[in-house]
Amino acid sequence: MKALIIYWSGTGNTEKVAETIRRVLEKKGIKITVKKIEEAKGEELYDYDLVFLGSPSHMWLPAQPVIEFVKEKMREYGKRGFIKPCSPKIHGKNAVVFCTYSGPHTGIDEAIPAVKFMRQFFEHLGFNVKAEWYVVGEFHGNELYSTKGKLGDIRGRPNSQDLAKIENDTARLLSRLTRGPF
Ligand SMILES: Cc1cc2nc3c(=O)[nH]c(=O)nc-3n(C[C@H](O)[C@H](O)[C@H](O)COP(=O)(O)O)c2cc1C
Repeated sequence: MKALIIYWSGTGNTEKVAETIRRVLEKKGIKITVKKIEEAKGEELYDYDLVFLGSPSHMWLPAQPVIEFVKEKMREYGKRGFIKPCSPKIHGKNAVVFCTYSGPHTGIDEAIPAVKFMRQFFEHLGFNVKAEWYVVGEFHGNELYSTKGKLGDIRGRPNSQDLAKIENDTARLLSRLTRGPF
């Protein structure tokens, strides 16, 4: 199996999740490429069996570089005829989308549109979206939102417990996929 992780991270939270996923994949002996989104423009997503895309929530949506990446790839794959009516699923092409968020006002609802946006991208490409991962992250530089928001005191998150859950979810996903057929 060939896997790719693409992410954008402004203050390091999403990067911690991406690195955790990378560690598990490496431990399982899977060939893994990790790219910050700025370096991922030339990636052929269909070359991979499993693609991860991660972003923080910025005003309920993915961060701007992630939105731009998705738009650019949609244009490219549209021109190449990959975006088909009814988005038929392609056997063996799998994706996972993940988002870190602080939820200061309405909690997880602030991450859901960001995750669904990324999910739609893969579904339009015909990928099978196997999971959506939501991870709480400290709002760096904003103490009020990191201590008095809807999710309470979120300083230091994602913490070791949050990352252990990602580790576990990644391992479970891999055993589901490799038990195959995927
Ligand atoms: C410009 C900006 C806008 C943000 N907007 C939201 C938001 O709408 N909802 C939310 O839950 N968190 C929001 N956050 C918090 C981040 O999503 C959260 O801290 C995330 O874990 C940061 O990830 P990163 O360190 O990978 O950049 C925002 C942060 C920034 C800097």
